[in-house]
Amino acid sequence: MKAIVYESFTGHTKAYAELLSKSSGIRLFSLEEASSKLNREDDVLYMGWLRAEAVSGYKKAAKKYNVCAVCAVGLARIDEKTEAAVKKMNNIFGIPFFALPGGVEMDKLPGYYKIPMLVLRKFMVRSLKKKPVLTTAEEDQLDAWTHEGSRVNAEELEPVLLWVRTNFKT
Ligand SMILES: Cc1cc2nc3c(=O)[nH]c(=O)nc-3n(C[C@H](O)[C@H](O)[C@H](O)COP(=O)(O)O)c2cc1C
Repeated sequence: MKAIVYESFTGHTKAYAELLSKSSGIRLFSLEEASSKLNREDDVLYMGWLRAEAVSGYKKAAKKYNVCAVCAVGLARIDEKTEAAVKKMNNIFGIPFFALPGGVEMDKLPGYYKIPMLVLRKFMVRSLKKKPVLTTAEEDQLDAWTHEGSRVNAEELEPVLLWVRTNFKT
């Protein structure tokens, strides 16, 4: 079976996973649900949220299923250097990797995440504003930190959908 499997904390990854499942017709399971529905032979497109550059749940999914591609949902767009660091840290090699902007919603975070994120926001906004020139990814990061909210957008999924239609047909 082919399936989309996701793990989400505040709902952005879940929203992308639901949009992708609806547009592609591929079955969708949370990482938790998948354990009773899928096995080692099943082909999985895995979607997880970024937490300190770790793709949440990916290591678990890679042990249990045949992960064919990964989507990482983070704060905003990332540059090539960050993408390479994320792939290295999560040991994602030889399969397609897509980074998607999720945004941040402080009110959905429990205190143990909210407090460090508020500190990080202050630091990031200050250091990004100090830079004379920002890259496109840095501009997007600054915008995401200063305009809280979901950045989930169906258009961001187009490259993923193209890959699914070409390589991940049921
Ligand atoms: C503790 C914590 C760590 C985070 N680390 C990163 C990170 O390393 N890179 C990034 O781009 N976004 C990071 N984010 C932002 C989340 O990945 C982003 O809010 C994402 O949309 C969350 O997805 P979800 O709504 O599916 O949980 C972090 C958020 C939290 C709460």
